[in-house]
Amino acid sequence: MLLERRTLGLVEDDPVMGESLVQRLEIEGASVEWWRSVGAAKRALAGGASAKDAIICDIRLPDGSGEDVFLGAAEGVNPPPFLFMTGFADVNQAVRLIRSGAGDYLTKPFDMTDFLTRISQLIGSGIETSEPVLGVSPAMVGLERLLSRISRSASNVLITGETGVGKEVCARYLHQNSNASKGPFIAVNCAAIPEELLESELFGHEKGALSGAASRHLGYAERAKGGTLFLDEIGDLSLRLQSKLLRLIESRTFSRVGGETVIAFEGRLLCATNLDLREAIKSGKFREDLFYRINVVAVEVPPLRARPEDVVWLADMFMDEIASDRELCPTGLSELAVTALKRHDWPGNVRELRNRIERASLLALGPWVMPGDLFPDQASGNGAVLSQDGMALGSLDAARDDAERQHILRALRSTGGAITPAAKLLCISRTTMWEKMRRLNIEVSEHERAE
Ligand SMILES: Nc1ncnc2c1ncn2[C@@H]1O[C@H](COP(=O)(O)OP(=O)(O)OP(=O)(O)O)[C@@H](O)[C@H]1O
Ligand SMILES: [Mg+2]
Repeated sequence: MLLERRTLGLVEDDPVMGESLVQRLEIEGASVEWWRSVGAAKRALAGGASAKDAIICDIRLPDGSGEDVFLGAAEGVNPPPFLFMTGFADVNQAVRLIRSGAGDYLTKPFDMTDFLTRISQLIGSGIETSEPVLGVSPAMVGLERLLSRISRSASNVLITGETGVGKEVCARYLHQNSNASKGPFIAVNCAAIPEELLESELFGHEKGALSGAASRHLGYAERAKGGTLFLDEIGDLSLRLQSKLLRLIESRTFSRVGGETVIAFEGRLLCATNLDLREAIKSGKFREDLFYRINVVAVEVPPLRARPEDVVWLADMFMDEIASDRELCPTGLSELAVTALKRHDWPGNVRELRNRIERASLLALGPWVMPGDLFPDQASGNGAVLSQDGMALGSLDAARDDAERQHILRALRSTGGAITPAAKLLCISRTTMWEKMRRLNIEVSEHERAE
């Protein structure tokens, strides 16, 4: 029995639906308390019924919304996870609830097996303890939770976000955590393939369908069988191919170019775009009906500047990746480099970060990556943000570093570059001087090295 000795709460006003769910859950060994209104559920939960393994909750109820039941329970200690049952119209609300920690949702009508699986997953998953893989910022931790919850559903997902934020990374995450993870992950960049080719690449073609089509060709849609079809830059799809894609989604079938055979589409569809599709709809470049079909669940990946906690975490991860790939490479990021990374606003997002780290680890001469290695394109080398009066704005540590650097350079200039007398001037030992020069990225000419 799937739910042996489990205690569940059910909030459902429809007597027929409620009765059949209770019966089915009891067959699986659960004991179920059934409330027929928001009020009844809230009273019971406030009175100690919250020690349930899970609550199954309708969204539309005669005296209010299931959301109120959830919010009430969420105020208590150790609230139980919620599985929401929603109509198609309430999907957005359900997704919002999941973002705020609700658990899972199912759209009505649902399959009983699916219903039971979700509940046991919900109870089994308990408190998530796994290490984050997408990021450590609250935004990415929340996004990862959302992705793992929707990964097992078959809904079409539209992933949006600026260039380089990690839309494809999210698509792969969805695939890897889905039931289709053993199947292929097929990524198609709709912007990179010319339109005439794209059609036969997507849907395949029969022998002789195109000039030079010497044999039958299986398209991506066919090869994605049992796996995931990821259509990147979906906003660039021509109107003609948009209508073919719409047909694929609506009928879950397609035909090869030049062929009559109707082929079933047996993959999960994920789409991504960095365009504002609502704008594209307004200007007639994107079909509204297709938009609603691909956007059943919307996932927005925030830009890197909106999640500063991820910058250094990602940078360290990229450094480690490089270290495992290559023999000679810097040990890590200097403090100054970390400061510079934090100050930069990352218009190219994670891709830019990755590129800068890769380049820096090739450029770095010493054991530590310095700001100049990361930002050779910026005069000041540390990506400082300037205030209105042109003063660098940043942490106190960075300001101290800057002042120290200037002061040491002045001392060195006055001794013609000789380090020992400069250290004397500054009242520090020669060793401290060397350490500071290395940390602050002050170059030493050959002449001084020989000193
Ligand atoms: N959370 C992450 N963890 C590790 N690497 C990441 C993460 N997000 C993005 N990256 C890396 O950043 C680069 C860009 O990511 P990706 O290709 O997924 O972005 P995108 O949003 O699809 O970009 P575009 O809009 O240009 O298609 C890749 O090298 C990817 O590996
Ligand atoms: Mg991409």
